[in-house]
Amino acid sequence: MKLLVTGGAGFIGSNFVHHMIKFHPEDTIVNYDLLTYAGNLENLKDIEGHPNYHFVRGNICNRELVDYVIDQFDIDTVVNFAAESHVDRSITEPDLFVKSNVLGTQTLLDVAKSKNINKYLQISTDEVYGSLGADGYFTETTPLAPNSPYSSSKASADLMVRAYYETFGMNVNITRCSNNYGPYHFPEKLIPLVVTNALEGKELPVYGDGKNIRDWLYVEDHCAAIDLVLHKGKPGEIYNVGGHNEKCNIDIVELIVDTLGKSRDLIKHVSDRLGHDRRYAIDPTKIETELGWKPQFNFDSGIKETIQWYLDHEDWWRKIKSGEYMDYYKMQYGAK
Ligand code: NAD
Ligand code: DAU
Repeated sequence: MKLLVTGGAGFIGSNFVHHMIKFHPEDTIVNYDLLTYAGNLENLKDIEGHPNYHFVRGNICNRELVDYVIDQFDIDTVVNFAAESHVDRSITEPDLFVKSNVLGTQTLLDVAKSKNINKYLQISTDEVYGSLGADGYFTETTPLAPNSPYSSSKASADLMVRAYYETFGMNVNITRCSNNYGPYHFPEKLIPLVVTNALEGKELPVYGDGKNIRDWLYVEDHCAAIDLVLHKGKPGEIYNVGGHNEKCNIDIVELIVDTLGKSRDLIKHVSDRLGHDRRYAIDPTKIETELGWKPQFNFDSGIKETIQWYLDHEDWWRKIKSGEYMDYYKMQYGAK
């Protein structure tokens, strides 16, 4: 395959590029990324110079450049990770989310259609289904009910992908995964924020009562699911991805603090996120039974390995936690 991987310099995208180079070294990977605050070429330093890996800096909204790159590298497959991904930022800057996530996806779809691309895969999220009560799971037929500007923009993009399948017969798939964790996770998100703040002796902000539930999956398990959908996904199908690993936020924060041997006094309950979804939980039956996917990593060892990764890569996160990041941090959490 000759893949255009958009957003390949972000958290999941860079893990996916590593996954593909490891398991499909014969494929060509063109990483097309705008390098926003969340894009970081340091994530890919070890594969720079690999003969089948190429990087192009660009916006997925830039039709001419996407068109040129697809021709130039004879691309046959598009995997779209590129997006504004942080719920909190979508509350303060929703327009950016509509531009990159909705218009960007539509632009990619349109160029892919004009080039007769073999497969277009949209990386979506469980957040498009909204929030669950204490019981039940999201299946692929759960109605879309997004609550944040972020999840609404992702749901809008998913509907556009559906339209290109229904109207133009494009070979598309959508994956909707739960919360990922692992290496290269940007430290604005809960797990890397808490690990790195704890290492710096800073307060650990927990929104509201800390009882909101997320369904955590190690990023490599997500990458393996995407690989499977690329190779075996049936045209037009949606696949939910998750490993039945529901955890309260406060339990995760306490686990990290205890693992690092820090004081729980660092934990600070702060104002709740506006429109904060209470619970996410994925039913992965379809991808398990139809494509044979199963998660390989359990949370207890995955979280320990992840914490160790941040201990071993202090340079990586210290470089990020300066400049623009600190402006955002002060705006979001105050000065501490
Ligand atoms: P991220 O914020 O770490 O990375 C996003 C990447 O996209 C960055 O490299 C950024 O530079 C790039 N980008 C942003 N706007 C762009 C644009 N207009 N043109 C080109 N590149 C652009 O995000 P992530 O956590 O790696 O998430 C990747 C994808 O997976 C997103 O689509 C997200 O919605 C989805 N997702 C994330 C999770 C999760 O837990 N992180 C779970 C399910 C789905
Ligand atoms: O479910 C998949 C989604 O997971 C992805 O689509 C998003 O791109 C990704 O960012 C993630 O969204 P969340 O909002 O669930 O992740 P975040 O790490 O921002 O927050 C996880 C939980 O922790 C959530 O309930 C909010 C809470 N939280 C978060 C931060 C940053 C805190 O309590 N304190 C914090 O400082």
